[in-house]
Amino acid sequence: MKIDILLGLQWGDEGKGKIVDALSPGYDVVARFQGGPNAGHSLEFNNVKHVLHLIPSGIFHPDKLNIIGNGVVLDPAVFKKEIEELGPPVEELVRRLVISARANLILPTHRILDAAYELQKGNLKIGSTLKGIGPAYTDMASRNGLRAGEILHNDFMQMYNEHTASHLSILKNYGFDFDLKEYEKGWFDGIELMKKFRIENTEYLINNLASAGKKVLAEGAQGTMLDLDFGSYPYVTSSNTISAGACTGLGVSPRSIGEVFGIFKAYCTRVGSGPFPTELNDETGELLRKKGCEYGATTGRPRRCGWLDLPALKYAIMINGTTKLFMMKSDILSGFETIKVCTSYNIEGSEQIELPFDNGAKIDPVYAELPGWKEDISGIRDYIALPENLRNYVEFIEKRTGIPVTIVSVSPDRNSTIFR
Ligand code: IMO
Ligand code: MG
Repeated sequence: MKIDILLGLQWGDEGKGKIVDALSPGYDVVARFQGGPNAGHSLEFNNVKHVLHLIPSGIFHPDKLNIIGNGVVLDPAVFKKEIEELGPPVEELVRRLVISARANLILPTHRILDAAYELQKGNLKIGSTLKGIGPAYTDMASRNGLRAGEILHNDFMQMYNEHTASHLSILKNYGFDFDLKEYEKGWFDGIELMKKFRIENTEYLINNLASAGKKVLAEGAQGTMLDLDFGSYPYVTSSNTISAGACTGLGVSPRSIGEVFGIFKAYCTRVGSGPFPTELNDETGELLRKKGCEYGATTGRPRRCGWLDLPALKYAIMINGTTKLFMMKSDILSGFETIKVCTSYNIEGSEQIELPFDNGAKIDPVYAELPGWKEDISGIRDYIALPENLRNYVEFIEKRTGIPVTIVSVSPDRNSTIFR
């Protein structure tokens, strides 16, 4: 069977967790392919909200296999906390979750380095979640990483000490205050817990399962506009969040990919620094934030809010080869008299539909205005029962992007997902 990918088309927080959970019944395997605990994937069912950072969002389905792929950076301390908060006993979770031996570990000193680097950047800070993501991927690329498979080796402690000593010598230059011992305790407890799980060459596992006819869903983290290569560098994360990242992050070939599901919010949000052409620094932005509860699931930071940005969405669709669109949080737009959609950019007097390379470009969004709707749509389960103006909004996006919108989400709950 082909492997499908679900990924974010904006700046993250599009609702990936909810949709992976909702799609899981149709899959046998859910595999995370990049990112780490910078992600915050929220799922809601039976009136309880769960937030996952490292563990794939298929974990709540007892008969699904979840894989933490080689492209993920794994913090054992976060892993332990998350496993303990899930609910089911460890003996049960061990059956549902496998870790790639090739996944790089986030060391306690990676988190400290992340904080020291950000502090030094001052006004130019990235707005990182400070989970150690950048430094862990840096060590991987410079061939200084420690990987999950190595926790089983006899010389693991020696390797850990060497890596930590090298980080501490870098930190000496930063005059940055930290308590390593405090981080280390939870980290080593996490290592012990990880040893109870299968740690293996998951590239064989995934390819063998797919060849045997099992359905695999690759779950992305962050969003296309935070991609290391194609986002607004340097205001990006440190991994490839795009569909190509699923190939390198799981060890599967481009020929094995089937659908590329692209998920987007009916408006835009961004947390952290960097360009955001349609950002609203006014009461409309504040209203979107309040109605949409736009506060980070990982850091609690208020998210920047704005109208939907079609040039950015079309860019993301192109880079990913998106085959289907899923629109999230449509309910948050209920009650607006009119809804704006950015259709092009005015950059210093010239109208453009391409994203500029330059982060400093002064962009005035050109908007189309569509009539809003007033109804509470959270209880609706059929597309045809949605207000006409919402359907017009969906069809406007389909027409402009050329890609069908096959899911419209109308509230956080697992069941309030309208499939078309
Ligand atoms: P999910 O998977 C939204 C942002 C940070 C910062 C930049 C770099 O929940 O969509 P990093 O911690 O990677 O060094 O931060 O990327 N960021 C996210 N924004 N959702 C996320 O994940 C994010 N993960 C990282 O705010 O701007
Ligand atoms: Mg999130």
